[in-house]
Amino acid sequence: LGNGLARTPQLGFNDWNAYGCNVSESLIKSTAQAMHTNGMQAAGYQYVNIDDCWLTHNRDGNGNLVPDPAKFPDGIAGTASYVHSLGLKLGIYEDAGTATCAGYPGSLGHERQDAALFASWGVDYLKYDNCNNTGVSAKTRYTAMRDALAASGRQILFSLCNWGQENVWTWGAGVGNSWRTTGDINASFGSMLSIFHANVGLNGYAGPGGWNDPDMLEIGNGMSATEDRAEFSLWAEMAAPLIAGTNIARASATTLGILSNRAVVAVDQDSLGRQGRMVTSSSGHDVLAKPLANGDVSVVLFNETGSTATISTTTGAVGKTGASRYALTDLWTGATSSTTGAISASVPAHGTVMLRVANQ
Ligand code: DGJ
Repeated sequence: LGNGLARTPQLGFNDWNAYGCNVSESLIKSTAQAMHTNGMQAAGYQYVNIDDCWLTHNRDGNGNLVPDPAKFPDGIAGTASYVHSLGLKLGIYEDAGTATCAGYPGSLGHERQDAALFASWGVDYLKYDNCNNTGVSAKTRYTAMRDALAASGRQILFSLCNWGQENVWTWGAGVGNSWRTTGDINASFGSMLSIFHANVGLNGYAGPGGWNDPDMLEIGNGMSATEDRAEFSLWAEMAAPLIAGTNIARASATTLGILSNRAVVAVDQDSLGRQGRMVTSSSGHDVLAKPLANGDVSVVLFNETGSTATISTTTGAVGKTGASRYALTDLWTGATSSTTGAISASVPAHGTVMLRVANQ
């Protein structure tokens, strides 16, 4: 979307994966405070996002949405001003139907009023869900909110959450800054793997201002550390929005180390804005390549299978040519090596090796 936002994929937090309906002002504030001090903000995380269940069940006498006063005693405006005081941005959630998935009032038919209200509160990001949509075309419903946000007078990143409906990737770039390509993720390797497969082939549709969204991160929520590193590697290689979905204030050093790996974040945030493509995939052994702005190529070797495997490719296959030697940097260990063309590594079960390939 040409609103000047998400020129690189958005980085942030959303409460849904770890907390479900238990969102509150205190959770959002304590998460923002933790991101401010634990290195995440310094690594580039910017948005602190509220998901479903922040509302009361009825609009007020003027037809305005009302934040649940028990959950948000200072309202969304008060929460936004605290988040802004830390140098972070606030995201909110609504639904392009008559009610949210959890049954709170939706924005269908109220787009102008709701967008203006969000802007008046200082909201910077809208995740727009797809429940209870009464069968109206997704493109129509999401375009109405795009236009309402544009008329609101505030720059608000627009995240389409319509689960791939109506092949959203074919029209999403004209309507939103990112679009969900699949149903919901959960904290299992199988869920992560199936979403990866659905999203990876859509690489041609992504670019600055508009990104394929394979859903939020489950890092820290129950997969193994190897699987968590695989999700982060694959999501960065696919230039996906990186929205942490775990308990940030209580995250382990391992979880924070994964989310804050700046070399991997840099691949996601690369200014060329290309989503990595699948180079080869055979018997659960995948090679992905993402060209980067400075001419380097990021390579992910992904072992989907349950046993350790050697995965191999070449510099030519990943699109890196023109030099007689190349430097390889492992983005998780920092180890460096040199090659004339062969790229090969032992990759653990359910794991990845992620390499940056440069001219030497
Ligand atoms: C469905 C979305 O896909 C989820 O990410 C989450 O926002 C829930 N709805 C909330 O009800």
